[in-house]
Amino acid sequence: MGQLDGKIALVTGAGRSVGLGIAQELAEAGASVAVNDLHAERAQEAVDQIKSAGGRVIAAPFDVANLESVRAGIGRVERELGPVDILVNNAGIPEGVGPTGPFVESDPAQWHFNIDLNLYGSMYCIRTVLPGMAQRKWGRIIQISSGAGSRGVPNVSIYSAAKAGIEGLLRSVAIEMAQSGVTLNAIALGLMANTGERMGNSAYLQRIFSTIPMGRLGEPREIGACAVWLASEKAGYVTGQTIHVNGGSVHGR
Ligand SMILES: NC(=O)c1ccc[n+]([C@@H]2O[C@H](COP(=O)([O-])OP(=O)(O)OC[C@H]3O[C@@H](n4cnc5c(N)ncnc54)[C@H](O)[C@@H]3O)[C@@H](O)[C@H]2O)c1
Repeated sequence: MGQLDGKIALVTGAGRSVGLGIAQELAEAGASVAVNDLHAERAQEAVDQIKSAGGRVIAAPFDVANLESVRAGIGRVERELGPVDILVNNAGIPEGVGPTGPFVESDPAQWHFNIDLNLYGSMYCIRTVLPGMAQRKWGRIIQISSGAGSRGVPNVSIYSAAKAGIEGLLRSVAIEMAQSGVTLNAIALGLMANTGERMGNSAYLQRIFSTIPMGRLGEPREIGACAVWLASEKAGYVTGQTIHVNGGSVHGR
């Protein structure tokens, strides 16, 4: 019997990488999983992969950064699978938008991409599922954040601001909901395997790489395992926290 048998989970941006690893781990723990992604075909590929491993899973393509599509998309998930018990806000890298560069040179017209997705997108999803969770007196909100939300990282200041912002929101809402049976927590990631793929063998990557005490990048399923624990009954006394899963990287450096 799985820890999450009978639970319904929605993972945003789960068509690949970290989100896919989270969806795989939740499905293996027994949850029925809705795989959200901006790209329907990417969501479907993830669904096929999880289904072939025996999981109960559906594709739920919609744009997390648009309130109407979030409401419609979550409505479809709830009609197909049932009410969402576990929300994992993972989508957080806006497509086609690279690092904003040094803030002093950044283009204000580009700032909204990161804020829209990481802050508003996450808030739209939380706001949509929270009333139902409170009514049913059980729910788990798991926010995927980044070490950049709590320490200085050059060239990604808008992303950092958005991640710090959503962690702040979570801490406050966790207190508001503390007696409702709903917990809200964040998992702040260090550098993951796909960063290595994205950046190639750049000097910048090598420099950050050398700051990871474990000397390696994180794997998506390691984040999924943490999400399974936070979603489980066993983590019922944990709320308003940010758990850093980063190979021992030191904050504030
Ligand atoms: N990869 C890392 O090293 C790293 C480090 C720290 C934090 N994180 C965080 O982990 C999370 C996942 O990152 P990743 O590297 O796996 O990203 P990724 O880009 O590899 O995958 C994210 C998925 O999200 C989807 N997506 C993008 N915008 C969307 C939207 N508006 N609506 C729905 N889906 C959307 C994309 O289509 C993509 O399939 C993010 O929140 C990111 O900030 C990642």
